[in-house]
Amino acid sequence: MVHVAILGFGTVGSGVAEVLATNGGLIDHRVDDLVRLKYILDVRDFPDSPYRDLFVKDFGAIENDHEVDIVVETIGGAGIALDFTTRALKAGKSVVTSNKELVATHGYELLQLARANGCSYLFEASVGGGIPILRPLTSCLAANELEQVSGILNGTTNYILTRMIRAGLTFDQALAEAQANGYAEKDPTADVDGHDACRKICILAALAFGRHVYPDQVPAQGIRGVTLEDVAYADSAGYKIKLLGRALRQPQGRVCAFVAPHLVPGANPLAGVEDVFNAIAVTGNAIGDVMFYGRGAGKLPTASAVVADVIDIAKDLKKDRHNGWEEGAPDLVVSADGIVSPWYIRAQMSAEQARRRCGDIQLLARGGAPAGEAAFLTAPMAEPEVRERLEGADVGSLYRVLA
Ligand code: NDP
Ligand code: HSE
Repeated sequence: MVHVAILGFGTVGSGVAEVLATNGGLIDHRVDDLVRLKYILDVRDFPDSPYRDLFVKDFGAIENDHEVDIVVETIGGAGIALDFTTRALKAGKSVVTSNKELVATHGYELLQLARANGCSYLFEASVGGGIPILRPLTSCLAANELEQVSGILNGTTNYILTRMIRAGLTFDQALAEAQANGYAEKDPTADVDGHDACRKICILAALAFGRHVYPDQVPAQGIRGVTLEDVAYADSAGYKIKLLGRALRQPQGRVCAFVAPHLVPGANPLAGVEDVFNAIAVTGNAIGDVMFYGRGAGKLPTASAVVADVIDIAKDLKKDRHNGWEEGAPDLVVSADGIVSPWYIRAQMSAEQARRRCGDIQLLARGGAPAGEAAFLTAPMAEPEVRERLEGADVGSLYRVLA
């Protein structure tokens, strides 16, 4: 029998318990053993839960129980979750998590620790919620030199942008809905300001390019500055505004990674990704372009990915999974200054001034635009150049256009 303990009985943790119970028969069949939930650790009490007899408050009960093979960490953050994960791995228990903050900040050392203790640290649910992406990246695409990984990595912000555009909700109303649906982080500024997408692109970059990329090496801009005016201008030219995380292979083994709102052409599949859905586009030198799409957050979709990792480990508890990457370095990540792209600009200036500053531009229009406002797309150029051309101007928005 394989015994499982869940740490943190919130949105994801309760989903894991539900999937283990609902699909118990087929999980046992696929593992060819009985997989049983033995403990749930949470700071709160759940007297009405069908699992009430499994609850404990002291992690020591799990750590010291030799029957526990797999610990599911769904507390979140890099505080107590780091302590519990470290202790579980040192006790020889494999750990499965949806906690991208922990993987992005401590993944390298935790993977090393797992290997040293003959167990596994798996985190499929940490990127893209229910979308299978990490295992395909390292297994199904293993024959490729990967060139680029990019996509819509945050369900909350994609949900907010979609609801603002489609239902005319305010930013705050749309965020409240995302929180009620269980999509948002405990502190939703992590979603809104791009930090969550940043953690996810760090994990993708580490797996794609083989070295740890830390969140503080990756510039992240969120969606606070995106206005309905920008949405209308983008729409007039057939673009959608999406928050993208991007990681690009660079010469000498370096990586360029960043998170920012982009104008995505309507013909690009990323433009049609709405609500809580995420999509991750990968470019490899053999396969060309491939895309992964699905629900990027939520109780059961995320639990689906967590339980898949539990099943993988339960099938062979002692397998060495080689799912790691090398140590990072301060000079590993290079700035995006060299990445040339067209730009979307909304600024207080006349069309003539826009042309004088930026040369060959495509002017955009929207109903109700005030006099003196210009919105336009530039020819491809690097960020330092576009900023120099706009120096001293009253610029409302400046976003890359995905070529
Ligand atoms: P929740 O806040 O819903 O759940 C976390 C649970 O852990 C809460 O019940 C919390 O209690 C409990 N907890 C807090 N501190 C402790 C502690 N010291 N000991 C035991 N339990 C504790 O978070 P989610 O389920 O939404 O997210 C969990 C992780 O999964 C996060 O890393 C998140 O980023 C990630 N994730 C979430 C997704 C989602 O759709 N929600 C999707 C993919 C990943 P209390 O509420 O009282 O603090
Ligand atoms: N808050 C995250 C999101 C949860 O909205 O994408 C999934 O990682």
